Amino acid sequence: MKVDVLLGLQWGDEGKGKIVDVLTNNYDIIARFQGGPNAGHTLEFDGIKHVLHTIPSGIFHKGIINLIGNGVVIDPVIFENEINSLNKLNLEISELVISKKAHLILPTHKLLDAASEQAKGKNKIGSTLKGIGPTYMDKTGRNGLRVGDIKSKNFNEKYTKLKNKHTELLKFFDFEYKLDELENRWFKSLKTLKKFKHIESEHYLHNCIRDGKKILAEGAQGTLLDIDFGSYPFVTSSNTITAGACTGLGIAPNQINDVFGIFKAYCTRVGSGPFPTELDDEIGEHLGKIGNEFGATTGRSRRCGWIDLPALKYAININGVTQLIMMKSDVLSGIETIKVCTHYMNNDNKRIDYLPFEDNEDLQPIYKELKGWHKNLMELENLSDAPKEVHDYISYLENELKIPIKIISVGPDRKQTFFR
Ligand code: IMP
Repeated sequence: MKVDVLLGLQWGDEGKGKIVDVLTNNYDIIARFQGGPNAGHTLEFDGIKHVLHTIPSGIFHKGIINLIGNGVVIDPVIFENEINSLNKLNLEISELVISKKAHLILPTHKLLDAASEQAKGKNKIGSTLKGIGPTYMDKTGRNGLRVGDIKSKNFNEKYTKLKNKHTELLKFFDFEYKLDELENRWFKSLKTLKKFKHIESEHYLHNCIRDGKKILAEGAQGTLLDIDFGSYPFVTSSNTITAGACTGLGIAPNQINDVFGIFKAYCTRVGSGPFPTELDDEIGEHLGKIGNEFGATTGRSRRCGWIDLPALKYAININGVTQLIMMKSDVLSGIETIKVCTHYMNNDNKRIDYLPFEDNEDLQPIYKELKGWHKNLMELENLSDAPKEVHDYISYLENELKIPIKIISVGPDRKQTFFR
């Protein structure tokens, strides 16, 4: 048994948290490999709804090791809040270990994120303002602070050096800020981070693989937000794809076994950037309302639209997806005609079957129409009781995507999950 990877195939918010939680019992270790508190993984079980930002979604399962990998960026303040809210639930939580090589989000990274977004005005990325971009910039710029630095003697010196660089940069922006309080809070919260085991996680994982342990690598965001392959510049600052599991955990490509690709039965996007199948009408509004499409991290309403096959095929290829998981099928109930984008037409009336480099704001989606259904899928006991049109929708997608859809989710609860 090698490492399986689970990641989103669209613009994030596909429901990865729920599925990791559902699959966790098959694994010994759940390892987050990229992103940071820009993510919001929502889990619902036994009447509890809980959102995780940095902590892997296996945390509620006994005997599991949860690992925050080197590819993740950590805000100690948000991390402390997460730990506090987990403790308040009074549930037994499993072990959490953190890579010494994971980078730290400083208060000034958040300020730089906010200042940069403000300066961009209408062209802003619509970032989550969690400091993600500036932190990864310092990582690749070789200036960053890492978890393993916290216990070093000259940590304060390193911190001050980086902070001073940031305050110089902030002078280029017309941006007001107060740092003292943020800084105090940040230093206090390091105490919580220090309580956890900081490990050389790549060596740990290599030993686990050697010992036959089962590992699930958990992604955040989605393929279309990948720094290289997403709709740049409207993307996040890390590799959200399968290759990101290799660099974000120190796992070799030949150790990857199954790749679970998660997608919604429709599409959503939060933040700016192209979205060819976006619906600016009452169906879009309906999907947002029934699907409760509000960001788990920012509370922003998500843009909604029809499922986009060229984008999904692209994501499947980039990730080497072996099994598909379709989420939120219940949200399509009650829609008379469901549309599926099969390709696009550009301004020159040319057929386009992929997401091109050029500005894809102007792409016209071309749709196939399928008959919808009325039955409320959230109450299904078995998938076989679903209307014929649900099965037709699943079969149509499978035929087009050429990968089996192994799990169908019809609601947020662990129980509303069907395996095929
Ligand atoms: P950042 O990652 O905060 O820099 O945001 C960059 C872009 O990625 C923005 O469009 C965000 O809305 C989007 N984004 C970041 N994290 C998530 C996520 O977990 N779900 C959905 N969109 C996200």
